[in-house]
Amino acid sequence: MSYNRTLITAALPYANGPVHIGHLAGVYVPADIYARYLRLKGQEVLFVCGSDEHGVPVTIRARKEGITTQQVVDRYHELIKRSFADFGISFDIYSRTTSAIHHKLASDYFRKLYDEGKFIEQTTEQFYDPETGHFLTDRNIRGECPHCHSLGAYGDQCEKCGSTLSPEELINPYNAETGNPLVKKPTSHWYLPLDQYQQWLEQWILEQHKEWRPNVYGQCKSWLDGGLRPRAVTRDLDWGIPVPVEGAEGKVLYVWFDAPIGYISNTKELCDAQPEKYGNWETWWKDPSTRLIHFIGKDNIVFHCIVFPAMLKAEGSFILPDNVPSNEFLNLEGDKISTSRNWAVWLNEYLDDFPSKQDVLRYVLTANAPETKDNDFTWADFQARNNNELVAIYGNFVNRALVLTGKYFDGKVPACGELNDYDHQTIEEFKNVKATLEDLLNNFRFRDAQKEAMNLARIGNKYLADTEPWKLAKTDMQRTATILNLSLQIAANLAIAFEPFLPFSSEKLKTMLGLSDSIGWEDLGRVDLLPAEAKLGEVSLLFEKIEDTVIQEQLDKLARIKAENEAAAKAEALKNWQPVPVKAPTTIDDFDKADIRVATVLECTNVKKSDRLLQLKLDDGMDGRTILSGIAQSYPDPSVLIGKQVLYIANFPPRKMMGIESQGMILSAVDADGRLVVTTVTSPVRPGAQVG
Ligand code: 2FM
Ligand code: ZN
Repeated sequence: MSYNRTLITAALPYANGPVHIGHLAGVYVPADIYARYLRLKGQEVLFVCGSDEHGVPVTIRARKEGITTQQVVDRYHELIKRSFADFGISFDIYSRTTSAIHHKLASDYFRKLYDEGKFIEQTTEQFYDPETGHFLTDRNIRGECPHCHSLGAYGDQCEKCGSTLSPEELINPYNAETGNPLVKKPTSHWYLPLDQYQQWLEQWILEQHKEWRPNVYGQCKSWLDGGLRPRAVTRDLDWGIPVPVEGAEGKVLYVWFDAPIGYISNTKELCDAQPEKYGNWETWWKDPSTRLIHFIGKDNIVFHCIVFPAMLKAEGSFILPDNVPSNEFLNLEGDKISTSRNWAVWLNEYLDDFPSKQDVLRYVLTANAPETKDNDFTWADFQARNNNELVAIYGNFVNRALVLTGKYFDGKVPACGELNDYDHQTIEEFKNVKATLEDLLNNFRFRDAQKEAMNLARIGNKYLADTEPWKLAKTDMQRTATILNLSLQIAANLAIAFEPFLPFSSEKLKTMLGLSDSIGWEDLGRVDLLPAEAKLGEVSLLFEKIEDTVIQEQLDKLARIKAENEAAAKAEALKNWQPVPVKAPTTIDDFDKADIRVATVLECTNVKKSDRLLQLKLDDGMDGRTILSGIAQSYPDPSVLIGKQVLYIANFPPRKMMGIESQGMILSAVDADGRLVVTTVTSPVRPGAQVG
């Protein structure tokens, strides 16, 4: 179906912390590339976003910092808004879900569905803290993980092993804030009966949206195959939009009910404020010729593809999303990015450390975008992409073309003479750049699209390297003029092609080239964009090399954070640690059956292909022996055990593991955080001595 306008939404970030590279790579840079591209194509576009200021994470942050929830959201809303502006994310509006307009719209939305009998009311048993008199949300409940047995797993997820959990599964659940044990208590809530939308959703997604990204389609299919169940849209909480129903005091709308309505209220806020510029908000949300595109991260798929469409369908007058280009996750140096563990590159801190280098980060995040699978951000890759691509290819080409023009033609675009075969061949190589870029961008393939733009710079670089105008200038000024003319035309094409991706650099390059504002996207591929004799602007470097020392500082910062996290995790584990109960009584005769002895460790190495086992060669006072022990995780540097005297059981039958025979068992203590600590003696003992 053809469309007249595109409404682009980017997931509303929680106002519980600053935004980081994961946010930018997953959602905001791709959304911005798309919005900029459509605008450059002259299409009617609205790009809306805002802070998600309700929900539990903000209340947790407030308690942690000892300030009010309002203060938390005020602080982070401003910070996030600033970061997005700094990185050139070109929202038409960036608002917030605590705005009066949003409260009213979300409240009215709920009330309409309530009045029309679209919800069901159910009473269930929920975890309750009798001491504080509060029901607890999943995130506020902690306990032992049923899978990896780490202590302090959350009611919705174990951060240690990554399992998704429900609070019921936790062993010994407690209130995360007070440590109080919890009881179950009945409470009633309103539910959206998603099961009633199952058939319609199956038809709409699985039949009509086969073109959605495989990760999105696949996740929807697995939710649908699992069978949808009613979902609560209200919560017992004192922060949020009050449920507009009599007798519902102390209850608020579930954050995932009000947040997506934020897309609508942000649009309304903008259109109501400037109707002559943006039109009527209802055109954006109700006219079938509007195309709605949601940019999100993969943890948001179910809400945007199943829950929100069901809410829209229930309401009845809204359009549905046309596509939901969701990305996978970006990790940082091999570990999951985490706000609570401070494992992130925060955008505000990045700009402190790399002022004016917004485009470098935009480039690296798109080059490495997690479009089809999780990807890793490393500082080494950041440096390499800057130095070897932005500086060595794009920047180098542009700079050579401009500097040579300055040197030989007084900074004026030289006239183009007759083109030779090589010139034609070069032009031929990029004549399809517009069509290729458009095809990739239309299909949300931003990573490949940016590669295509960089390819154009490669063509330019090669052209200059092959034609060597700096040598020709001594003998053939006319040919030099033609080469530099064509080079400058390619540079102008680069300014246009990179505009959606690297807006700051394109702006700078356009100024240096003196490119007219009337030249735009539609002119891509042309080689007559700069008229002869036009004066170039002042020349400066587009990109600068990043030195090793700068990268090392970032790595050192992360190492410090890792050490802090490990110490904090240990402290948390110790706080909650309880000794396991003493075993059933035994006798000295039973104990005597085990032959426990002292041995000196001669060698200690990792067992190949095993991340669990260490191989210890021991002086046991006899013929020597080898023992394999599952302590590798606790001893990242196995050599620390060499020379230590350890205790082991000498009379276990030999056992083969990973093809190696183990002749006994090393005794270790299990620390509160699960770390194994090998037992040893306090002063030297002859190897082979018995323990008893
Ligand atoms: O996952 C998140 O960060 C949510 N705050 C996204 C909300 S998107 C939308 F529905 F508003
Ligand atoms: Zn776990």
